[in-house]
Amino acid sequence: EPAAEGGDAPTYKVAMEPTFPPFDTIDEETQELAGFDVDMMNAIAEDQGFKLEWVNMGFDGLIPALEAGNIDIIASGMNASEERREKVDFSTTYYDSGLVVAIKAGNTEIKSIDDLTKDMKVGGQIGTTGADLATELFEAGKISEAKIYNGLDVAVMDLQNGTIAALINDLPVTKAYMDSKPGTIEIVGDVLNAESYGYAVKKGNQELLDKINAGMQNLKDNGKFDEIYAKWFE
Ligand code: ARG
Repeated sequence: EPAAEGGDAPTYKVAMEPTFPPFDTIDEETQELAGFDVDMMNAIAEDQGFKLEWVNMGFDGLIPALEAGNIDIIASGMNASEERREKVDFSTTYYDSGLVVAIKAGNTEIKSIDDLTKDMKVGGQIGTTGADLATELFEAGKISEAKIYNGLDVAVMDLQNGTIAALINDLPVTKAYMDSKPGTIEIVGDVLNAESYGYAVKKGNQELLDKINAGMQNLKDNGKFDEIYAKWFE
């Protein structure tokens, strides 16, 4: 048997929560995990000579799973925040994003976050920056409830059927839901914050972090990053 490629390539477990298009989703035909993060991490793995096993997980379970050593990498549109950097290490960031407020199309009452009122329920996805902001609004007495969802798919349905008055979520993902259900939801007001997504590894796993960063740099240099970006965003 040839001592050829792959023989001793390490396999890493990489996890994501898949209701976050176009970064993290499930391909309708194959039922496999798909999206910008999947193509990126697969290309990084190929470039760096390691293998990946993909795992589907609740967003709030990702950091605990990494800390416990049950997974090796988080690839899930995760903001590389200072707070999270206390628990995990992040790669070079790969996408600049921010939160927006979405409403049901045709709602003329809410034109920005300032129009949310004490009688309104506002949604966010569990463990995310959007849920944090919804919770802050609730704790400040500005809304009646912060409704926290496991999946953004159900949150968007609840926005469409009026269960929640607004949803706080990342701009590119809210846009993707708008495109997949034209005319049902709208974005109002300004982008509320600045976030940058990074891939996370267990604190101190410098060896794996170096591979991810080197792979990402190579994809930027050889045009693959642009190709993957164009596939999911243009
Ligand atoms: N960017 C937001 C955060 O870091 C939301 C990420 C949600 N990702 C997902 N795959 N559901 O909290």
